[in-house]
Order: sequence, then structure tokens, then C-alpha cells
Amino acid sequence: MIFQFFHAGLLLDISGFTSPTGPDHSTQIMQIKLDQLSTSATYFTLTQTVLPRPVAWILSENQESNFNLAPFSYFNAVCSDPPLLMVSIGKQTDGREKDTIRNIKARSKFVVHIASCDQLNELNQSAETLPPGVSELDEIGLKTTLIDGFPVPRITECKVAFFCDRYDIQTIGNNGDSLLFAKVNEIYVNDGCVEINNNGRVVIDANIVQPLARLGAGEYANFGKIMTAKRPS
Ligand SMILES: Cc1cc2nc3c(=O)[nH]c(=O)nc-3n(C[C@H](O)[C@H](O)[C@H](O)COP(=O)(O)O)c2cc1C
Repeated sequence: MIFQFFHAGLLLDISGFTSPTGPDHSTQIMQIKLDQLSTSATYFTLTQTVLPRPVAWILSENQESNFNLAPFSYFNAVCSDPPLLMVSIGKQTDGREKDTIRNIKARSKFVVHIASCDQLNELNQSAETLPPGVSELDEIGLKTTLIDGFPVPRITECKVAFFCDRYDIQTIGNNGDSLLFAKVNEIYVNDGCVEINNNGRVVIDANIVQPLARLGAGEYANFGKIMTAKRPS
């Protein structure tokens, strides 16, 4: 049984099971057909179902050597050899490229940070569209720290930062989104979050990093309880 109706701008299908005693509404399944949704409704639906997402807080540099900071949650680690992160960067509402991808095309080195929960306000503020050349760092008042041999600094307060080189940029989708692959050269981890275990492995304490997670729309999640499970052999 399939019902179709409009709800909050979304065209939805609700399929239900039919039991021997008739339709069982307690086991209805909602099936959302994405090919019938607008791009913005699809975005809204995807970002409320792929949960939670890490956020790449990217500091890049433009050709005039001004720094630009912006958050991106179509983001993850996707390869270990070479070590690659992936970020999907859409267009501005007027169809122009976002400053981050324009900067990374012009200057290949940039820094991806993992923000902690207590940085939500600063991270959210950094998503504001500012005129090119106006730095979110100055607007928000974030401090930065340089490392030797890398032109872009890291945000001092972030507990994890990836010093990256542009590896590849592919154009995807009907709106010309940019799929950025970032090769990680070096990772900064705050001393207080890291220890070397008995096997000589670097262990990062996620309870201290407290990574901020993105949900749908304007919703975020803080770090929950750690669970462990032994991998089957
Ligand atoms: C938490 C969060 C996650 C975001 N994720 C993305 C994303 O994955 N891709 C994207 O294109 N824009 C994303 N945005 C919007 C950009 O941050 C926003 O367009 C920003 O102004 C781009 O800045 P820029 O022009 O300086 O690059 C996100 C915004 C927020 C607040």
C-alpha cells in the first residue's frame, strides 16, 4: 500500500505492510523518493539522515594572503595510503564559487580543524558569507599558531588540525559542486588529548577532544558515551 502526500514541501511515499488482519499502521514505513524532491529538500533530507557528521573547519589563504575560515560537514577521511580527507563544497546561492574552494585552487595548502563542542558559536559565525578578502578570523577574533614550514597557521584553540595539500578536485552533480580531496601531511594534536599506549600506538582521547557533530539544519550534537565492541575475526 503506498500513500503519496505533500508534507512541508516534501513529496513523500508511505508504504505499509498488510497483515492477515488488515493494514498494520504501527509498522508503516516512510519511503522518501529523492528523484521527486527539489535540491534543497534533498539536502534537508540527506543532512537529517546521515547522522552525525564530523565538521571540517577549513582555514585557507587567498592570493592576497588573507585567511578565510569556513565549516563543511559533507566531510570524512576516505583513504589511508595516501592519507586523504574528502570535502564536498557547493556553490554560493548566486552560483559563485565559495571562497574556500577558490583559495585552495589558487594556493594548494590549507588546514582542516576538528572543532570542539565549546566552539559551536565561533564555528557557526564562520559560515557567514563575507566579501572576499574580509577574514572570518578577524571578525570572530580567533587566535592562530604557525608551524615551521607551512604557510597557513592552525587555530590555536582547536585540539586537532590537519595540515593539507590539495590532492584532487572533481566536479560533481548537476550544480557543479566541488569534491575536494586533501592529502594530509601532518596532524597536530593537543598534548592533553594524546598518549602513547603499551604497543607504541598514538591514542587520542575523544572525551577530551569533545568533537562537535553536525545534525540536520541548525542542529548539532555534543560528544556522547563511548561504546566498545570486539571485532569478529
Ligand atoms: C556546520 C556547517 C556545515 C556546513 N557544511 C557545508 C558543506 O559540507 N558544504 C558546503 O558547500 N557548505 C557547507 N556549509 C556552508 C558554508 O560553511 C558557507 O557557505 C560558508 O559561507 C562558505 O564560506 P567561504 O565562502 O568562506 O568558503 C556549512 C555550514 C555550516 C554552519
